[in-house]
Amino acid sequence: MRTDLYVGGAFAPAASGRRFPVVNPATEELLADVAEGEAADVGRAVDAARACFESDGWRKLAPRDRGARLARAADLLEQRADEFARLETQQNGKPLFESKIDVAMTVETLRYYAGWADKITGATLPVSGDFFTYTLKEPVGVVGAIVPWNFPLNLASWKLAPALATGCTVVLKPAEETPLTALLFAEVLEAAGFPPGAVNVVAGFGPTAGAALVQHPGVDKIAFTGSTEVGRLIQRGAADTLKRVTLELGGKSPNIVFADADVAAAVKGAQTAIFYGKGEVCAAGSRLLVERSVHGRVVEELAVRAKKLVPGDPFEKATRLGAVVSKRQQETVLGYIAKGKAEGATLVAGGSAATVNGKGYFVQATVFDGVTPEMTIAREEIFGPVLAVLPFDTVEEAAVLANQSMYGLAAGIWTKDLQKAHRVARAVRAGTVWVNTYNTYDSAAPFGGYKASGFGRDLGREALDGYLETKTVWIAL
Ligand code: NAI
Ligand code: MG
Repeated sequence: MRTDLYVGGAFAPAASGRRFPVVNPATEELLADVAEGEAADVGRAVDAARACFESDGWRKLAPRDRGARLARAADLLEQRADEFARLETQQNGKPLFESKIDVAMTVETLRYYAGWADKITGATLPVSGDFFTYTLKEPVGVVGAIVPWNFPLNLASWKLAPALATGCTVVLKPAEETPLTALLFAEVLEAAGFPPGAVNVVAGFGPTAGAALVQHPGVDKIAFTGSTEVGRLIQRGAADTLKRVTLELGGKSPNIVFADADVAAAVKGAQTAIFYGKGEVCAAGSRLLVERSVHGRVVEELAVRAKKLVPGDPFEKATRLGAVVSKRQQETVLGYIAKGKAEGATLVAGGSAATVNGKGYFVQATVFDGVTPEMTIAREEIFGPVLAVLPFDTVEEAAVLANQSMYGLAAGIWTKDLQKAHRVARAVRAGTVWVNTYNTYDSAAPFGGYKASGFGRDLGREALDGYLETKTVWIAL
């Protein structure tokens, strides 16, 4: 385990000497005391990233060599997949089988962007007059990547891999709840041949380490995933230095079940959509919109499934619902459950905290029926295993309900009617629409939000744009 900051190619304590505890939310045990980075440490990390960016050691490498190092990092991570998966489960509380998927997806993301490194091209432009005019794509510079605790390693790779492929250097600030896999990942990057300063990892808290990164004049771009509230702070904080900002924020994603769907598949999909990752998933299908003629059946089958989804030891093979990330998050989620009851929704499954072996911050798989769009649990991101079910009567009403949210991250549509699927996919204002599937991801498929779910895209070719400047060169002929 690594518990010190990784700056300029070396692990070292914070300048202040301070450390903070990281707790296993499933056992309440102390996992580690981690070096607490603050402004001084962020400053050193940014200097190291800047020096690396200006040196011959990274941006000026042959693009193919940059790609080769990303590919090597993928191989090395794959060899240590079990170790990383176990650590992810220990710090996050998610079932081990999910952490294994997270690590595998991180490997894929590194490989995907390894392939892009030598395929980033400008264009020649058909301008008027006697000129040869072309564009160069150049790395934006030093990137501050601030990531949350729900997919700690995976989301870090969503920022790191495209940034590094373009020739940027990075200061990564993992979430205070889950810094351990990011710090350990620095070992992998070092072994893969990334030069000192190409990637720096500064653990610490948002208002100190995170804010210092946002304000630092030596940072050219902030890539953020996290809450909409902090996304607003970041955009404001980045204004003075005119940093580029991409924000992947919260969601309240509608998952729409039409009566003509394969209802059994839709119910199973609705279960995964809200309970995978304990519902601590930005794209979680947290509003289930169900056409009235199948509403009774869907709720009944979902309640049966939710009751079977008992919270368990994340290291047990059969466990499909782990601990929520922290006591604070557990309190937040329970607060929303209380609001749901108080505002008149009907609890059909779950609704309580739970422990496993007498310990841990677990929440039962919870389903509320009879939810109306005005209720708090229909409007606010809960970020826990809590589903709100709302009935509808027509396709038009479904689309209106789906868009009745400040968020626009994702949506699900369950129907066998192709025309309906395409029509609703167009009508919904969301960055990702899943038809007869949910929570499907691939490094090739861009991911990000409309509206208050943010802007810019992770993954796919699009993510590269967030780390590139375009230079137009005019040559008089
Ligand atoms: P958060 O947005 O505060 O934390 C995410 C990251 O931002 C962490 O690394 C944190 O240290 C950093 N951060 C916090 N304040 C900052 C600041 N002032 N400047 C710079 N960086 C800062 O999320 P939090 O408080 O852990 O969770 C609160 C709620 O946010 C959750 O209940 C959920 O609704 C939402 N959330 C959404 C996520 C998503 O994937 N879209 C991920 C995590 C949380
Ligand atoms: Mg916060």
